[in-house]
Amino acid sequence: MFLTGTMKINDQGHLEIGGIDTLELVKDFGTPLWVIDEEGLRRNCRMLKEAFARWGDSVVAYASKSLCNMAICTIVAQEGLSLDVVSGGELFTALLAGFPAEKILFHGNNKDPEEIRMALQAGVGRIIVDNFHELELLNSIAEEYGHDVDIMLRITPGVEAHTHEYIQTGQIDSKFGFTLTDGQAMEGVKAAVNSPKLNLTGLHYHIGSQIFDMEPFRHTTALMMEFIAQIKEETGQEIYELDVGGGFGIFYTQGDRPGNPEDWAEAVMTTVQEKARYYGLTVPLVIIEPGRAISGPAGITLYTIGSFKEVTGIRKYIAVDGGMTDNIRTALYGAQYSALLANKADQQPVETVSIAGKCCESGDMLIWDIRLPQVESGDILAVFATGAYNYTMSSNYNRLPRPAMVLVNQGCADLILKRETYADLLRNDLLPDRLKNR
Ligand code: LLP
Repeated sequence: MFLTGTMKINDQGHLEIGGIDTLELVKDFGTPLWVIDEEGLRRNCRMLKEAFARWGDSVVAYASKSLCNMAICTIVAQEGLSLDVVSGGELFTALLAGFPAEKILFHGNNKDPEEIRMALQAGVGRIIVDNFHELELLNSIAEEYGHDVDIMLRITPGVEAHTHEYIQTGQIDSKFGFTLTDGQAMEGVKAAVNSPKLNLTGLHYHIGSQIFDMEPFRHTTALMMEFIAQIKEETGQEIYELDVGGGFGIFYTQGDRPGNPEDWAEAVMTTVQEKARYYGLTVPLVIIEPGRAISGPAGITLYTIGSFKEVTGIRKYIAVDGGMTDNIRTALYGAQYSALLANKADQQPVETVSIAGKCCESGDMLIWDIRLPQVESGDILAVFATGAYNYTMSSNYNRLPRPAMVLVNQGCADLILKRETYADLLRNDLLPDRLKNR
């Protein structure tokens, strides 16, 4: 289940990805190493696009927060997807990668004036406005530029989805968006409609991440369609676009039961179509914003195993040459991962171990309790589904340089992110003269 895309176990009993033995990758690029399966990434883009296209007009906007650099933006553009960015940094990367600005959606709950100017100058397709402050700010900056700006409003629908359940609260406690349940959302719509420089095209919602159950999508989409009908009735304003966010769950470990993209498409698209008919509305263009479902399964991380510590009768710790600096998800969310020994991929598990990182922090763990073949120092550990939210949440804690990232496809391996050096870590350090001269 964790061998996705082009991953397989080759004749030497080694893990292979993109037609390359992972041990070759380790020899050429060192560890820790993020490896991205280009074919796997492209397939994920296509799978989602096709699943929704089958039901009608739809747009897939890849959530770049899950994995963003020049190469990834380029691939996503080649696959014909749109792009969700949430900061000037993501926008800058996308623009430099030549991503068509009109296919970029700019999110964020606190965009600063500089970021807004950058977006307007580039001509991004949609700005997703999060709050009243931003409505005013954007309208006044748009006046400077002298042209109208297409916007969507982020609505907080009062539905919060988790992997296995969802809750509906009267007033959801979230920093994002205009709350639907207390009238704020309608006020936001009216303020948008009355903003001379803003052109309200659509609404947006996002109910969570790593979701397996499609019911919350169905439910929330229905709520939003009802809201669209109310908007038309109260203001006469038509809503032409409905962005249902991301959140489609993936397989990390036993117990994860990801749905099929077809299920997601069915849940959203049929609800939109049925409710449009019911309320007599034009069927809005549906936009989805998957991040994890595209980048997650396409990435693995390779580590070299170093030291061991056995706590008698309790646990065997095995330390790798990375950790929470390249994957903070275990420490932060209690995330679980599958892994194998890339150089012993055909061997049966014989022991239960826990994989620790090398940072100076007890919580720096990657995997608790995993069954592996006899582990020895020098073995290569491959952790699966690390394409999403690993690199983008990485840090230099303990002044560890970030790993390299390599893109593999049909036997080719290209570096798409250089390994950081110690000099990189010092790149922005400054030593004031007054400290030198003491
Ligand atoms: N659209 C919006 C507005 C979002 O806030 C997010 C994720 C997405 C799309 C993409 O969601 P996805 O399809 O990747 O689930 N750092 C966490 C995930 C945070 C997600 C935040 N928003 C993690 O590592 O699990």
